[in-house]
Amino acid sequence: MRNITLENITDAVTTSLGDDIPPRNREILVSALKHIHNFCKEVNLSYAEWLEAMEWLRRAGDISDDARNEFILISDIIGVEVLVDMLDQMPTHGETVTTVLGPFYRDNPPVLPKGASIVQKSFEGQETVRVRGRILDTDGVPVSGVIVDVWEDAPNGLYEQQDPDQPDYNLRGRFETDSDGQYEFVAIRPVPYPIPYDGAAGELLNYMGHHPWRPGHIHFLIQKPGYKTLVSQIYDGETEYLDNDSVFAVKEDLIGEMKPAGEGADTDLVMDFDFVIRSDAKLQIAAE
Ligand SMILES: [Fe+2]
Repeated sequence: MRNITLENITDAVTTSLGDDIPPRNREILVSALKHIHNFCKEVNLSYAEWLEAMEWLRRAGDISDDARNEFILISDIIGVEVLVDMLDQMPTHGETVTTVLGPFYRDNPPVLPKGASIVQKSFEGQETVRVRGRILDTDGVPVSGVIVDVWEDAPNGLYEQQDPDQPDYNLRGRFETDSDGQYEFVAIRPVPYPIPYDGAAGELLNYMGHHPWRPGHIHFLIQKPGYKTLVSQIYDGETEYLDNDSVFAVKEDLIGEMKPAGEGADTDLVMDFDFVIRSDAKLQIAAE
């Protein structure tokens, strides 16, 4: 097309796509182009606003490195990572719902026996919690030998890799379910923390008039060969920001209840939470 107009520019771009690109590329590009063009038209985007957005994207790139991907943070605060997780990880057989892994997971956490504590450093005023439950398959059968990685922030709102004053791998552990499918560990009551807001994501939060805070939660990564890996977070039922998480990751089914542990207990609180994971092997047999 040699005479580009407001009416034909979207077609001009979509018809410029190569004939031999993969069908999925075409599907993604045609839809994205139509939405982006229509968005510009709908808000009558000014040249100055477009340039401001391009400069903001450049700053997002500048602050990103091997340890920090600002574009993931941006996608989080507009709900896109959680949306894609829901599309990609939709429970099909009554499994526990997933939510995002987040940027603070570290592989190879300390391997600990059932019931051990992940707390390596005490903070004033912290509350300890015994977290325990069963891992079941979608038929309700306990699953033994499931690897359960857990991690959480410290009472100062920082994960250990963000805080030089915490021991390496503080508040992280890898546990295994016993023959009854039980897991158990001692943690601390998780506190709300802000996502990093000193970069382009923070600029967007300001533009949105939204805060950076996440409700207190404990992360779980639950794995066993033959089963679908479950990535989730359990929220403290009494934490702030359950109704306005800055990354929109809260699901009702993932809200736990931290109760007083009672007299003679070695922790302040106790929380029981069962998970359901899907056995791909079992489903395969059922399908055949
Ligand atoms: Fe987190």
